[in-house]
Amino acid sequence: MKKLEQVYEGKAKKVFATDDPELFIVDYKDDATAFNGEKKGTIAGKGVINNRVTNYLMGLLEKEGVPTHFVKELSERETLVKKVSIVPLEVIIRNISAGSFAKRYGVKEGIVFDEPTIEFSYKNDDLGDPLINSYHALALKLATKEEIETIKKYAFAVNDFLKKFMKGIGIDLVDFKLEFGRLSDGTIVLADEISPDTCRFWDSKTGEKLDKDRFRRDLGNVEGAYQEIMRRMIGE
Ligand code: TMP
Ligand code: ASP
Repeated sequence: MKKLEQVYEGKAKKVFATDDPELFIVDYKDDATAFNGEKKGTIAGKGVINNRVTNYLMGLLEKEGVPTHFVKELSERETLVKKVSIVPLEVIIRNISAGSFAKRYGVKEGIVFDEPTIEFSYKNDDLGDPLINSYHALALKLATKEEIETIKKYAFAVNDFLKKFMKGIGIDLVDFKLEFGRLSDGTIVLADEISPDTCRFWDSKTGEKLDKDRFRRDLGNVEGAYQEIMRRMIGE
């Protein structure tokens, strides 16, 4: 597989074309941003961890019946993925109040919900990724009704699996963000990443935050938290 020109650079990853028109290579960086890019930094070794963790979870999710873009891990930081066009919606599932939910609705963090919630943000940096509902998404032609239904179904399936899996390694899955893409034939698959950058993970016993909130909120030992997640998940 030949790595060709860069086709995209995001805040945490670069994407390259390959000699197969249906495949891309994702390259994970150590760069970290928060608050729509206002806060910038580096988390040493983050790219390696997020690559491994994402691939490990996507492999398990495929077995659970959630199709993903994952093809093959190529190196510490590089993964071969199916080429998709990203649906410009950030899909957020929450099991416990935290972050923007706690702020928006004026509640404390840590309230365990009876049922998970789902929400969408319009992926648009210029607008600051505003909250959007499915009617707005349809009006803006960001996705079709059928695609939104499929995305919701997969997002809740990811939650059912990931919540149990994380509980098994002593971690409460607070919330997370997913992105989906369309293959060239229109099939919806899970894309982007599932990592401590895109999830909130709280230690079940101590409540310690083991995710990007350590960076967002200057809590220290960011690298240690990412390593701890990888160690508990994969044993490395
Ligand atoms: P929030 O509480 O700030 O809305 O975040 C909800 C979840 O989504 C949390 O696990 C972090 C993740 N997230 C991202 O992955 N990217 C983002 O740009 C934002 C705002 C949140
Ligand atoms: N990565 C996002 C940004 O830079 C936000 C976040 O994860 O908090 O905007």
